[in-house]
Amino acid sequence: MKKIAVLTSGGDAPGMNAAIRSVVRKSIFEGFEVYGVFQGYQGLINDNIKQLELGDVGDIIQRGGTKLYSARCPEFKTPEVRQKGIENLKKRGIDSLVVIGGDGSYRGAQRLNEEGINTIGVPGTIDNDINGTDYTIGFDTALNTIIDAVDRIRDTATSHERTFIIEVMGRDAGDLALWAGVAGGAETILIPESKTDIKAVAERIEAGMSRGKKHSIIIVAEGVMSAAECGDELRKYINVDTRESVLGHMQRGGKPTGSDRVLASRLGAYAVDLLKDNISGYAVGLEKNEMSKTSFDEVFQKEHVINEKLYQLSKELSI
Ligand code: F6P
Repeated sequence: MKKIAVLTSGGDAPGMNAAIRSVVRKSIFEGFEVYGVFQGYQGLINDNIKQLELGDVGDIIQRGGTKLYSARCPEFKTPEVRQKGIENLKKRGIDSLVVIGGDGSYRGAQRLNEEGINTIGVPGTIDNDINGTDYTIGFDTALNTIIDAVDRIRDTATSHERTFIIEVMGRDAGDLALWAGVAGGAETILIPESKTDIKAVAERIEAGMSRGKKHSIIIVAEGVMSAAECGDELRKYINVDTRESVLGHMQRGGKPTGSDRVLASRLGAYAVDLLKDNISGYAVGLEKNEMSKTSFDEVFQKEHVINEKLYQLSKELSI
């Protein structure tokens, strides 16, 4: 009988639970045994592995976080450490693994696949920075969390006629900032994929002020600079009273949106489909609303790119 394990790794993302549920239920539907590895690669090394039944994933589709816990595990880069994890799987007769996580987690997955465990990656990160999928699990929920925060901040920005700088997550990617900026009607969006010209930002704020505009929202991706730095930089050019908000880890929590739940359900089941057909070494994704698979090599080859048309639109709409 085929035995499949599943783990979540790296920063958690809303919808990871829905993906775990999908992997577990689809595996059992196919007649496989399925195992949960707790605490990501750390748990794989520490043999924190338990067989999962249908009921173990009941009542989790609506929950944020991950029932399997997550960890960052830099030791997993070492071949001897990985070997320990491989032995822990093999002694149970497990030859297949689904890794739900981001870029860093995929690197471990790629190594495991080369070293004899059939591995499939499922994109779970709020950052939306993984090649081979239009959207990652958790992005939509985090985006909506940010939009809610921006809407609230806009209320007080309007009342007090202030400029607010809101720092959002995304690591080296600007997707969360760009999408939240467009959806929240931000006057300025600063993303790492585009050169930041603070003088130009200051001039735009000044031009707005001279037209009678009294408040302004700037969304800065953490990969560009911190909100505090952004405020300091701005004040080199204009006399503006700013307030800064760092949204932080609240962006990673909360119940997943319908979009994230459906995406996670589709991707988790597709990962099992591939393993069933003895296909491994791929990351699954959703491209043009179809399930797709991209080899780990290809995922790493390309640089993450921002949606240029959306970025251009954001500029046109915030004149
Ligand atoms: O990758 C997800 C993410 O939330 C990034 O947006 C952020 O830079 C990072 O993880 C934060 O990591 P940690 O939770 O380890 O501080």
